[in-house]
Amino acid sequence: MPDILSPMDTAKFVAARRAADFVESGMKVGLGTGSTAAWLVKCLGEMVREGGLKIRAVPTSTRTAALAREEGIEVITLAEAGWLDLTIDGADEFDPDLNLIKGGGGALLQEKIVATASDRMVVIADASKSVEALGAFPLPIEVIPFGWPTTSALVEETLCSMDVLGQKVVLRMNGGEPYVTDEGNHILDLHLQRIGNPRQLALVLNQIPGVVENGLFIDIADAVVIGHGDGRVEMHDISTGASEEGRVELAESENIFRDLKE
Ligand code: 5RP
Repeated sequence: MPDILSPMDTAKFVAARRAADFVESGMKVGLGTGSTAAWLVKCLGEMVREGGLKIRAVPTSTRTAALAREEGIEVITLAEAGWLDLTIDGADEFDPDLNLIKGGGGALLQEKIVATASDRMVVIADASKSVEALGAFPLPIEVIPFGWPTTSALVEETLCSMDVLGQKVVLRMNGGEPYVTDEGNHILDLHLQRIGNPRQLALVLNQIPGVVENGLFIDIADAVVIGHGDGRVEMHDISTGASEEGRVELAESENIFRDLKE
């Protein structure tokens, strides 16, 4: 195993590498955002360049689009694709029903649109993302900049009647400025500690004027591939009930690590 990867990066890489096996020539594929999704894009890039894989991909952020192009993957818009065969993306948390918190990387809006427009969504994650109940990771919501402090106050007021442990709402910053998403919006991070009823919270948050979308992905993901620092991978498909365990040999992917060594 190349010692160039930390156990955390190994876990992310092996999850991504295993999930890349779900991608077949001819597919239209949604590409997630984040460090785990970046490994997926690298794996697919290698499969395109060296294995003759032919796919068209819809990225969920400008960052992922740039990486996909760099890797030689054909990039199309969701409007051009219409509908996708498969989306593979990371997550900040997933629960036993495969409900997710996403948006730690600020791309939740495009991620949710793309995942929802897919026959199948596969989550790739290291084992630390698995939780019994969502909410320890702050829940991101995307809000329009106009009147965001009012939106934030309304969100805080709404949280008082929700089944959550914490109610703190924090505007995400980038240096000294509010963080701006690819869609030109801001992100509020909701520090809830524990979300008792994610489905209800997701519905209620989206009723607040100024809220564009929330980072709760309910009934969207079909399967999860969980990577471990020692190269083991688990796959659980909640739509079929199938589970499997295996191992990814990192030596077979030496090419992907070449640029890390340079
Ligand atoms: C970006 C996301 C990411 O999928 C999530 O933050 C996980 O990122 P990473 O793979 O870097 O841990 O939702 O908006």
